[in-house]
Amino acid sequence: GKGNFRHFMEKELHEHPVVIGDVLHRMIDATTRMPVLPALPFNLARVPRITFSACGSAYYAGLTGKFWLESLSRLPMDADVASEFRYRAPPLPEGGLGLLVSQSGETADTLAALRYMRAEGQKILTILNVPESTMARESDAMLETMAGPEIGVASTKAFTAQLTVMAVFALAVARARGSLADAEIARLCDALLEIPAKAAEILASEAQIRRLAPRIAEAADVLYLGRGACFPIALEGALKLKETSYIHAEGYAAGELKHGPIALIDKSVPVIAICPSGPLFEKTASNLQEVAARGGQVIVFSDAAGAAKLQGIAAETLILPEIDPFAAPILYAIPVQMLAYHVAVMKGTDVDQPRNLAKSVTVE
Ligand code: M6R
Repeated sequence: GKGNFRHFMEKELHEHPVVIGDVLHRMIDATTRMPVLPALPFNLARVPRITFSACGSAYYAGLTGKFWLESLSRLPMDADVASEFRYRAPPLPEGGLGLLVSQSGETADTLAALRYMRAEGQKILTILNVPESTMARESDAMLETMAGPEIGVASTKAFTAQLTVMAVFALAVARARGSLADAEIARLCDALLEIPAKAAEILASEAQIRRLAPRIAEAADVLYLGRGACFPIALEGALKLKETSYIHAEGYAAGELKHGPIALIDKSVPVIAICPSGPLFEKTASNLQEVAARGGQVIVFSDAAGAAKLQGIAAETLILPEIDPFAAPILYAIPVQMLAYHVAVMKGTDVDQPRNLAKSVTVE
């Protein structure tokens, strides 16, 4: 049941800290602070390329993972939405690894992508929440998210569990390939281990997120901006707002704004910036300056240091706990989803069962 919560989505949002903590507990050795994977029937040090495919939020989890994997392990990873992937008949390398991410393990397009990869001779690795699913049966190896049943049509805890598995997987690949020193891998594991407590802090300050909802609820269009590993979190924010509150929203790479979408900006368009402190902060800040200069309402999601730097241009600021840039996308997914939830409640939509949608999309 829903316990004391109004909706399954709300209940599942509140499970983020526990679900993320469980993944980390299973996948990081507490004494060595090193990633641990189950025995795999392929050698991560030898794989020449990863080909990834998924749909919706699961695709965004993989896109974030691509950023981590390529930058940390130098292993190339292709990413396509599953409904497009097989139609471009991509050539896949000998000895390559196919990677699929799915909560249900039943999504028709993702399953078809898996079968295409297998027919092209790839080994198949899946990241799944339902270990008895069709995709699980057709995998060579599986990394379980173990987020527990997710009832709300909008994916919440399964998404952060997928991100967490992807983050540890990227570190494991980096270790297998010797692209990072053990001390650096341990430091990044420590950064991940800080997420559950900080996620709980965010949930405890839910009122700060709810306070942003009226401004979003009255908008006809909302833009989400992010860079690097936070770009897919901007995409996730836009998807979650669309599906739960029926408000038009788009996620953009912050630097892409000036190539077209900036023409949309006026005072009626809220622009939500996912911009934790880190190497990409200053670049995003200058993109936000451009938005503010055109009268856009900039809503900043950052830590105290980042928020202070953007004080002059932000219409609203949500201050989040300070976190290493590597772990930030996982933490920032939480307020992004929670804002969509509160806007949907305010709009009075059917939060757990939005119109026209199904939890598991088993037609192509
Ligand atoms: O079960 P799957 O993870 O394969 O589902 C993929 C998408 O259908 C799913 O993530 C969808 O986009 C969600 N409703 C997003 O909240």
